[in-house]
Amino acid sequence: MEHIAELVRARKSVRTFDGTLLRQDDRAKLEQYLSNIETPFDIPMEFRMLDAKEHGLSSPVVTGTELYVAGKIKRDPLAEAAFGFAFEKFVLYTLSLGAGTVWIAGTMDRPAFERAMELEDTEFMPAVTPLGYPAKKRAIRDAAMRRAIKADTRLPFESLFFEDSFGKPLTAERAGTYREALELVRLAPSAVNKQPWRVVKQGETFHFYKKSSLPAYPKGDVQKLDIGIALAHFMLALEEAGIAGTVTAADPGLAGEQDMEYIVSWTKA
Ligand SMILES: Cc1cc2nc3c(=O)[nH]c(=O)nc-3n(C[C@H](O)[C@H](O)[C@H](O)COP(=O)(O)O)c2cc1C
Repeated sequence: MEHIAELVRARKSVRTFDGTLLRQDDRAKLEQYLSNIETPFDIPMEFRMLDAKEHGLSSPVVTGTELYVAGKIKRDPLAEAAFGFAFEKFVLYTLSLGAGTVWIAGTMDRPAFERAMELEDTEFMPAVTPLGYPAKKRAIRDAAMRRAIKADTRLPFESLFFEDSFGKPLTAERAGTYREALELVRLAPSAVNKQPWRVVKQGETFHFYKKSSLPAYPKGDVQKLDIGIALAHFMLALEEAGIAGTVTAADPGLAGEQDMEYIVSWTKA
């Protein structure tokens, strides 16, 4: 993989593909990658590469490819975070091969994808992505959607990150060695670009919260996927900088978090 920072900065959701087939060597690498994606969570998950024609799959926002990847995971309070972490690693790896993806949790024929994934009662399917090479120009619907949800904007650093409590914004300057890792959190994709990640730094521990802004999903909490994505960007950036840490779910019970849901914490090893 190239440097995480370059990949995160280069990544954009791809909904318009160029109509060519995924090259055999790229496909083999991606299948290999999907067979074992490491996360800090011990929750079983499985990914499948699916042919749209064979399984009758479709998404109204996708054009120019007939190939998808879908994933399923065992139900668990941290399942969405774990899935978000793993699938985002796949998204970045795919980009490093020059191919494109878009996280899709909503705009798809969900029953068809779930049938293709042969879901068991103990499992759910949080999201899928089409797979292929990006077209040179976005389809009209794709471009219009990006404008409608302001897909190219992100909230400022100080409104996402805090020090010791939610009352004290963390500036980029004060974030020190963690500045770039947090900047890569800020650039993460999120459902409807709502950017629900909020992070409170306490010494060498970072508490990840979800500021809920979308209604509860019938199939899992889509904004918890966003937290897993953010944690992946954060940890991959730190790993590259040689900084290791551990992930725990232990609510610190910070005050002033009424509209925030605690998800996980990262602590420097
Ligand atoms: C968990 C998650 C679910 C998403 N679901 C959809 C979806 O159902 N349909 C869609 O077109 N885009 C979906 N997206 C893509 C977002 O709209 C996109 O990431 C965001 O607008 C930012 O744009 P960017 O990815 O190009 O930076 C989803 C993204 C995430 C992270």
